[in-house]
Amino acid sequence: MSRRQVLAAGGTGLLAATATPARAATARRAARTTAGDGTPEQVHLTWGDDPATSVVVSWVSPGPAARPQVRIGQRVIAAETREYTDGISGETVWTYHARVGGLRPGALYAYAVTADNDDDAADPFSSTFRTAPQGRAPFRFTSFGDLGTPNTEWVLSYGQSAYAVEADESFGPLFHLLNGDLCYANLNPGVQTMVWRDFGDNNQGSAANRPWMPCPGNHEVEFGNGPQGFASYLTRYTLPDNGVPGFGGRWYALRVGSVLFVSLDADDVVYQDAGAFVAGPDTLTPAASTGHPPIAPGTSFYIRGYSGGAQTAWLEQALAAGRTDESVDWIVVQMHQCAASSSARGNGSDLGIRQDWLPLFDRYQVDLVLAGHDHNYERSFPLRGADPDAGRDPATGAVVNTLRPHAVTTADTGVFDTSAGTVHLILGCGGAVDNANDYGTSRTDGRHQAKVLTCANRPAVTATPGVYARPPSYAVEDATWSARRDTSTGYGIAVFDVDPGTEAGGQTSITVRYYHAVGADPVNPATGAPGRPTPDYTEFETFTLVRPRADSPSATRSASTGTSVTRT
Ligand SMILES: [Fe+2]
Repeated sequence: MSRRQVLAAGGTGLLAATATPARAATARRAARTTAGDGTPEQVHLTWGDDPATSVVVSWVSPGPAARPQVRIGQRVIAAETREYTDGISGETVWTYHARVGGLRPGALYAYAVTADNDDDAADPFSSTFRTAPQGRAPFRFTSFGDLGTPNTEWVLSYGQSAYAVEADESFGPLFHLLNGDLCYANLNPGVQTMVWRDFGDNNQGSAANRPWMPCPGNHEVEFGNGPQGFASYLTRYTLPDNGVPGFGGRWYALRVGSVLFVSLDADDVVYQDAGAFVAGPDTLTPAASTGHPPIAPGTSFYIRGYSGGAQTAWLEQALAAGRTDESVDWIVVQMHQCAASSSARGNGSDLGIRQDWLPLFDRYQVDLVLAGHDHNYERSFPLRGADPDAGRDPATGAVVNTLRPHAVTTADTGVFDTSAGTVHLILGCGGAVDNANDYGTSRTDGRHQAKVLTCANRPAVTATPGVYARPPSYAVEDATWSARRDTSTGYGIAVFDVDPGTEAGGQTSITVRYYHAVGADPVNPATGAPGRPTPDYTEFETFTLVRPRADSPSATRSASTGTSVTRT
């Protein structure tokens, strides 16, 4: 479908259900003079407060746009302009956000993005999107985190990130969950806005056609960019309101069909110090125009506890509301860092999430937790409660209480009742170059083992004068919760098909298919075989989550306590 066909779709912008969404242009725009250039780029969609009736169209332009707007049918919707000035380079970025409401549920719409000073004004950027269904209806969503950009000039970027975006399009989800560490701009501190631009232009290939809903990761934390370093992330994305003053955009919830999606910022609770960091020996010196002082070696931007408990309090309210709502069957949580990862090369599990959030996931029967951070794929058994004193200090052998998640079953049957336990997936498999698909394994009995971060790994000077590192402090535990790990590649995509079931009191299911990109590893850690980016995603495993519908009289009985959740 051409841009002109899209624009000719009619007065409401509605398209026939059989129309094929336009493939958004992914090529980077040629360098152009920035002054006064309002040509849209980096176009992406997010859900509005009600995904059945609203979306937000967001984009960036090289210079300030005049009358930025979205056209949908005969409607012209003025966009809000938001800008920020990067705290290191001093470069200003102009972003635009058009809230499109009043839409029909489950409908396909055509839209165009433009401005008075759009170089392409005669044939503006255009694409399509579909709104979410209303009520209990089947739908598909996809997920991975840790995407990066295809421009290998940047630290951690890799060509697989382009194929990952293409793969997402090929599965045609209603929307995508992007589980943090979007592009690693903070590892490229002098050129953060250029990294974000390459990310946005690559991401547009799918995110202009369907919402991509992000959560912040440790690599969204940038020096000089706001109290948590999220100025770039928050300026570029318009996310559902969480109602917590001062913390908009960091976490949120939204409803699609019978699923409550809860997106969290685990930077607030993890022990790990993994945000912006100056290792040295060189000092990081921001541009004079920023007015920011030089940042000395050994400085890190550590934000654990930044909300003062506000996020966890909000989370409990959101989960309680979800579990007392008869129209909500499923609760899916998205976050970046991991409560249950046994990656050896990667970060492993973090005790902070286990302490602060897993008890809430148990209490309110969270069905599924989607994370990233470790660049691989791992699936847990259904988990509920904790095994005490299961960890050991690897140096001394001393007992450490890692609050090891307790597997309610270790039978890998392929069908899991998540009303009895929460399944965790590690999906840090988007496109970052450092694949982490090697995993902890006991040398004596071959069982899965995990390292668990139990305290803050603050910067410490190394043997090299002026150079600092953040050596993590780990306990080790037998990962009795670990069900399946993909050693063949660190790259892939998870595809979720929600089946709401057919009758009140019946069963609902989510079928999960994980597809992986074998051969994409720069080096496979198991074989040492070199690889390269590949467009070929093949099925690794399929499993099904089931639970009783919430409109069943017995559906809200807690498996762990045997007590009923009171409905209001
Ligand atoms: Fe990360």
